[in-house]
Amino acid sequence: MSADPATEAARRRTFAIISHPDAGKTTLTETLLLAGGAIHLAGAVAARGQARRTKSDWMKIERERGISVSSSVMMFEHDGMVFNLLDTPGHEDFSEDTYRTLTAADSAIMVLDAAKGIEPQTLKLFEVCRLRDIPITTFINKMDREAQDPFALLDEIHSKLAMDTAPMYWPAASGQRFAGMLDLTTDEFVPFKRLEAGEQGFASQERQKRGSADFLEGVSDDVRVELAETAELARDGLPKFDLQAFREGHLTPVYFGSALRRFGVLELLAGIGAHAPAPAAQKAIAKGVDTDIEPGDDRVTGFVFKIQANMDPKHRDRVGFFRVVSGRFKRGMTLKSAIGKSLNVHNPLMFMAQEREIADEAFPGDVIGIPSHGGLRVGDSLSENGDVSFKGIPNFAPEILKRVRVRDPLKQKHLRKALESLGEEGVTQVFRPVTGGDLVVGAVGQLQFEVLDERMKAEYGLEVMFETSPYQAARWISADSRADLDAFMEKSKMQMAEDVDGSPVFLGKSDWEIGYVLDKNPNIRFATRKERT
Ligand code: G4P
Repeated sequence: MSADPATEAARRRTFAIISHPDAGKTTLTETLLLAGGAIHLAGAVAARGQARRTKSDWMKIERERGISVSSSVMMFEHDGMVFNLLDTPGHEDFSEDTYRTLTAADSAIMVLDAAKGIEPQTLKLFEVCRLRDIPITTFINKMDREAQDPFALLDEIHSKLAMDTAPMYWPAASGQRFAGMLDLTTDEFVPFKRLEAGEQGFASQERQKRGSADFLEGVSDDVRVELAETAELARDGLPKFDLQAFREGHLTPVYFGSALRRFGVLELLAGIGAHAPAPAAQKAIAKGVDTDIEPGDDRVTGFVFKIQANMDPKHRDRVGFFRVVSGRFKRGMTLKSAIGKSLNVHNPLMFMAQEREIADEAFPGDVIGIPSHGGLRVGDSLSENGDVSFKGIPNFAPEILKRVRVRDPLKQKHLRKALESLGEEGVTQVFRPVTGGDLVVGAVGQLQFEVLDERMKAEYGLEVMFETSPYQAARWISADSRADLDAFMEKSKMQMAEDVDGSPVFLGKSDWEIGYVLDKNPNIRFATRKERT
């Protein structure tokens, strides 16, 4: 097989799954891995999670709350294509990890429960995808149960997400009457065969051609009539799939099925392979000049979108998740960061479904884990020459701000160091008030504080208390004129802070105050997002 980066990039699809809890993301992940031959037994994903959870004692909350805080990457092959599935934490509480993981995905699958449609978390994750115009493929799951009318579901997507919907298949009823689906492109019928519990493999691959003797064989008359009418309506009344509109994020192709019964999933995967984008060129600054880095470029480049600590609880290791943007990465390579740090990557990790392996090579779109003892930061760009920095790993303005105190007053310095180190890793954001005083930590979700609390105890031996902060909002500030910025910072000294990179941040006591200050200072920009470069 060719090892040329452009060819390898072209057969890769790097995607994430977004959904509201319980819509079926875990089950779909498992079914996809099964399709890729990456696992052989249904139930393996959950079982693996369980094994890991019992091992890692520091992440007690994972166990207590039965959730997986850490997200991971799964690689599998199917039909000559390589899929990198980036797992986002499936908890209602939101964390910055989710945002960051989505910055490394080229597209997303949005899973909806056919009985429930768009739920709050779907909407929130969708908005993050929209920020980057990530193309979205929709999978309407649980068709083996009573579903809402498919037209109503598509209408809801259209009105709530402001996106056209192009059904690729059309379902024949749902629940007990669910009979299969019609391929709207080829006009073939894919019959649904109910998998028995414990049964291996996939429910159906046999397609029935219209006009052939077996077309709609065994489908009851009422379902036939219903399918004929509704599929006709769908074909005439709903938008047709348009590759460009999909790629630009204006249209979502819609698939129907049941992850649990392994029905419709192969069709979904084929759709991702055929239409979802391969790794594309990424905007960067190289040697001070704006440029696009193409996947086929010879030199290896990429960025760290997430840091995970203690993946191996026996060691205090940290793993940086590095998404390759260009070139052919080989084990043992030295990569440099844009600020001159050099890293010899001896033991890069590749994440297969059930295990981690040492990666001998990786291509654009792949994610490798780079073990390090600190030093790597979320948003770091790494390259062979150390002269590339990618744009667009954003920090989001925290929605919750708290003050942190340590119970033992002698450990003040220790606290500062620990907070800064965990801040660099991106566990929470950390702000240093310029006039001194307690550090302020910020997060987009409450869960991040719990993770911070656990890790402070487990890794730094610090008992901390979170207290209400006088601030409720943070904004990164900038201005065209340095003098204007300095004047504002001087005037607002009591409410000024710096983030971990030293960028100036205005801490507001309320959204109202931010609005007021914004009005009074038209020459200052107050940003809710900071793109790290
Ligand atoms: P999540 O990761 O999005 O939170 O969802 P998950 O896959 O865990 O699925 C949530 C529940 O929905 C599970 O049931 C799962 O079995 C069920 N489910 C997923 N896909 C389908 C489907 O296509 N059809 C039907 N009928 N059910 C589906 P549970 O009772 O919560 O867990 P379990 O005891 O079955 O594992």
